[in-house]
Amino acid sequence: MSTADDSRWWRSAVIYQIYPRSFADGDGDGIGDLAGIRERLAYLSGLGVDALWLSPWYPSPMADAGYDVADHRDIDPVFGTLAEAEQLIAEAHRQGLRIIVDLVPNHCSDAHPWFQAALADPDAPERELFWFHPGRGPDGGRQPTDWVSPFGGGTWTRTTNPDGTPGDWYLHLFAPQQPDFNWDHPRVRAEFEEIIRFWLDRGVDGIRIDSAAMLAKDPTLPEVTPDGPHPFVDVDAVHGIYRSWRRIADGYPGGRALIGEVWLPDRQRFANYLRPDELHTAFNFDFLGCAWTAPALRACVDATLAAHAPVGAPATWVLSNHDVTRHVTRYGRADTTFSFAARREGIPTDLELGTRRARAAVLLSLVLPGAAYVYQGEELGLWEVEDIPHELRQDPMFLRSGGVDPGRDGCRVPLPWSGDAPPFGFSPEGATAPPWLPQPADWKDRTARAQAGDPHSMLELYRTAIALRRAEAALGDGDLTWLPAPEGVLALRRDPGLTCLVNLSGTAVPLPPHAGLLLASGPLDDDRLPPDTAVWVRSTPDDPR
Ligand code: NOJ
Repeated sequence: MSTADDSRWWRSAVIYQIYPRSFADGDGDGIGDLAGIRERLAYLSGLGVDALWLSPWYPSPMADAGYDVADHRDIDPVFGTLAEAEQLIAEAHRQGLRIIVDLVPNHCSDAHPWFQAALADPDAPERELFWFHPGRGPDGGRQPTDWVSPFGGGTWTRTTNPDGTPGDWYLHLFAPQQPDFNWDHPRVRAEFEEIIRFWLDRGVDGIRIDSAAMLAKDPTLPEVTPDGPHPFVDVDAVHGIYRSWRRIADGYPGGRALIGEVWLPDRQRFANYLRPDELHTAFNFDFLGCAWTAPALRACVDATLAAHAPVGAPATWVLSNHDVTRHVTRYGRADTTFSFAARREGIPTDLELGTRRARAAVLLSLVLPGAAYVYQGEELGLWEVEDIPHELRQDPMFLRSGGVDPGRDGCRVPLPWSGDAPPFGFSPEGATAPPWLPQPADWKDRTARAQAGDPHSMLELYRTAIALRRAEAALGDGDLTWLPAPEGVLALRRDPGLTCLVNLSGTAVPLPPHAGLLLASGPLDDDRLPPDTAVWVRSTPDDPR
């Protein structure tokens, strides 16, 4: 467990992700803000987490919910002011909570002054800070490459010259409102080094790096081929950027962590980002997307630990975030894996089953060696909201797919805090606007108020598990030992003396010999562990387990 002076806190921390728009609304406009977060710091420290990661809070036209940043050194007025952000950092620190800000270096907003200058004048020096390129074909009317955006569609948009004629194209791996920076340019590098210092100087403890594997591009702009090196994902030159950032972070006291959003299928390439002179940790998306079966989870844990060991970095365990279908919903489906490509509306879901599995899953993720993430609302057992009216959806993934992909709004619905009806305490009494996305009426049993003090609730399970994790020397950083177990059951030991069993089979199994039950994710069947249930027990001293 981390302490205030522990500069290696990031190796074992429980990190809570705040999605500011949807956490708590302090000023009554239906959109979450810094005032709302500051009012709930006591809730977060009571939950027992070590750090808060805040999704972007910067000035933004919100074409991608703030991942289109117009000014990296300020706060969007919808969320508050820079002074309030500084107060939030100080107040969080006083409550023992570290703060991680979200840095978006791959691209900015089309409202960013550099991009505006580049658009206004084809000869402007700012042009070089982005990827402007002539189109193909005699009239330049075909985009420079056929690259496909993770948001669907192409990755280039054509500009118009000041005289009204069609001009060059610019690159945007995501939405057209998110032009990509040219990381080959020293001014881009210098600017981001200053931005990092700006936030570290304000006392933040960590930086989450958005789309961290995409910054460097092959400047010859080749097409994507099945076998060749990828032109914009995991291009080797990206590592030089992180080496320079690590030198900056290491120059500050207290252990300032760099955390990469690195989605890569190749675990070896993934681990390269975690070499001792690069990032401290990265999100484990393999675990997030893994099927709810014992062999798949065990293989994922083993492969994760094996990939991290040679670089000496701690693993992370992530079940949900603001980009993926909430895991109560995923685990209630026939196919429990996650992939963006498979996301569709109307997949049959058993929420009771999903909730049971989600309870077991948090015991598994908190027992594994390394750091763990909690996405706001998972501690309340929230499910994906699937019936948001199409006209209210805002996610560019929904809009750009023509509605084929339901997008990410369903995991971003404002949190229910109290009361029997929307807005469930998300906004203060007398609010002038409803929550920016509608909350389901049947969240009345899932409010924080309804669950507090109920020993059977998801919230109390999280509080108890996180408190135990703090108290147990065995948990957090370290190693694990797998124990023999019946088919479909995961059994592992953390030393000294804590054993975890997760039953993913269809039948109840006996508990191992133990010296005391520490925590169960659901009711036991006498001394047997029912399906989709997990338990932490004190290992017996004389038992080899
Ligand atoms: C990853 C972020 O998590 C996601 O929300 C965003 O849309 C893309 N990067 C683009 O910034």
